[in-house]
Amino acid sequence: MLSLTSWPVAALHEAELASRTYMRVGGRVRWLLEPATPAELALAWTTARERGFTPRILGGGCNLIIEDGLLEGVVIATDRLKRCFRPTLGGADIDPNEDEARVAPAEPGSDPRLIAWSGVTLQNLVQTTTALGLSGFECLAGVPGQLGGGIAMNAGGRYGEMWDSVELVRVLEPDGSIRDLPRAECTPRYRNGGLGERVVLGAVLRLKPSTPAEVRERAKQYLIEKRNVQPVTEWSAGCVFKNPDPAKSNGSSAGKLVELCGLKGRTRGDAIVSPLHGNFVINRGAATAADVLALIEEVRTTVAEKTGVVLENEVKVWRAG
Ligand code: EPU
Repeated sequence: MLSLTSWPVAALHEAELASRTYMRVGGRVRWLLEPATPAELALAWTTARERGFTPRILGGGCNLIIEDGLLEGVVIATDRLKRCFRPTLGGADIDPNEDEARVAPAEPGSDPRLIAWSGVTLQNLVQTTTALGLSGFECLAGVPGQLGGGIAMNAGGRYGEMWDSVELVRVLEPDGSIRDLPRAECTPRYRNGGLGERVVLGAVLRLKPSTPAEVRERAKQYLIEKRNVQPVTEWSAGCVFKNPDPAKSNGSSAGKLVELCGLKGRTRGDAIVSPLHGNFVINRGAATAADVLALIEEVRTTVAEKTGVVLENEVKVWRAG
């Protein structure tokens, strides 16, 4: 029997997970590990592997639906990996010691790069880069989640994507080794960072010099647009489906197909297809994961029957057991 103290990082037993996701559904996990640095994350991961577990990584929980019940095994949360700092003159180490991490305030013409650990929220990065007058992240205004998940999924939208501003990613390889991957060695695609099973520990971000006023104005505009078309204040997991190949869907996005099939407002328990945007399923308060997942399958089946397009999940689903 493993005890709390047997883990080399902070650990919780039978931890509740719903409140750690934006959809607010799901059960508990046998072990929740909470490393505080990239090195601790690597240690938590290798320890879990040595003990026969295949750990799952929990970032912002904004693109995730967790089943009801008990998940056996180990979840590693990146919540505590919140550091974001500018490179020192000497270089851009992702996990420096305290002295090296102390950096001078930004000045015009200074290094337009930032280093961030995987648990830094995208909104923190939008705010930080705005204040520094660095452009590149304003396209993520209003996008929930953290750096690690954003890189793994290549989060983004109409105005740009996460990987547009990535110079280098530090990852944990499936064999437990740590590796720095320069952008040129990576092949990010639409909603897929192309990293496979690797775990993001942190990244060096390269922004474009601009001014705080310009970056702020663009971020504000993008946020206003987003709020007009997406139910951003509700409990959801963001867009449920990837947009289909336009050649197969006659140019329609997933949300538009759902709308054309008359599915907006469809409910299952306390889960509802958003009346505002068809690609969002919302938890109105008391939905279970079973409600949400059943509604998603109903939408997928109906859209396939009516249009011939089989929508593919953008959200991740963690099955219990
Ligand atoms: N539309 C409808 N009905 C709807 C929803 C959309 O007719 O219910 C139409 C819109 O009018 C528009 C088109 O479909 O003409 C596309 O809709 P929208 O502009 O809302 O963009 P989207 O393709 O649905 C994508 C991303 C979003 C991102 C937005 C804005 C995907 C699956 N979704 O949505 O990302 O915020 O662009 O840049 O790629 C997410 O990844 O979770 C997400 C929300």
